[in-house]
Amino acid sequence: MEIRQATAQDIPEIGQLFSKVYTTKSFKDFTPEKAIEAMRWLFNRCPEVAFVAVEDGKIVGAHLAGSKPWFDGIHIVDGELFIDEKYRGQHIGLKLTQHYLNAAKKLGAVSVDGISFVPAPNSENRWDIAPQFFNLAWHEKNGFYRIDQMAVISGDIDELIQKTNERLTA
Ligand SMILES: CC(C)(COP(=O)(O)OP(=O)(O)OC[C@H]1O[C@@H](n2cnc3c(N)ncnc32)[C@H](O)[C@@H]1OP(=O)(O)O)[C@@H](O)C(=O)NCCC(=O)NCCS
Repeated sequence: MEIRQATAQDIPEIGQLFSKVYTTKSFKDFTPEKAIEAMRWLFNRCPEVAFVAVEDGKIVGAHLAGSKPWFDGIHIVDGELFIDEKYRGQHIGLKLTQHYLNAAKKLGAVSVDGISFVPAPNSENRWDIAPQFFNLAWHEKNGFYRIDQMAVISGDIDELIQKTNERLTA
């Protein structure tokens, strides 16, 4: 198994893998086409931290992320790390992590900020996450910590426009 820098030519294969990893019995919306588009966008945000794991000429894992200049230096953000199910538990995730962290350090990054999934009883349907993606424990084991003072927020655009209009006309 080889870890190497990802290139623009890898994007279709990376997108196919992303779609495969995130497709479940009840969620099929991240089609290969949408995944390829998303991975191309993410790759272009910071190609330096994009890496792939290759086995027998096939991409079996990848990491892509963006970078954001912030008050204290560069933050690596919006990272996506995903390994083909058949290849998990072989430290491929950790090896990709080692490579991208070293590359990020060279860029002057001071931190890696990410989102991980946790089970929540009141999750809305559009954020109904399959249990195999609850990987906070994996991140905590590898040095990440949870910031309890932060919450991820999201809003449907039509509801937000309506609410904002209501608030302004109240
Ligand atoms: C999370 C993921 C990237 C881990 O990749 P991986 O290559 O299987 O992980 P590694 O083999 O490098 O794991 C290293 C260690 O973490 C442990 N580990 C693996 N999955 C774990 C999990 N879900 N929770 C806690 N520990 C885990 C391994 O046992 C191993 O421990 P060890 O060093 O004591 O032997 C992979 O499971 C994956 O692609 N999942 C689907 C996509 C996903 O959920 N990505 C993260 C979104 S937040």
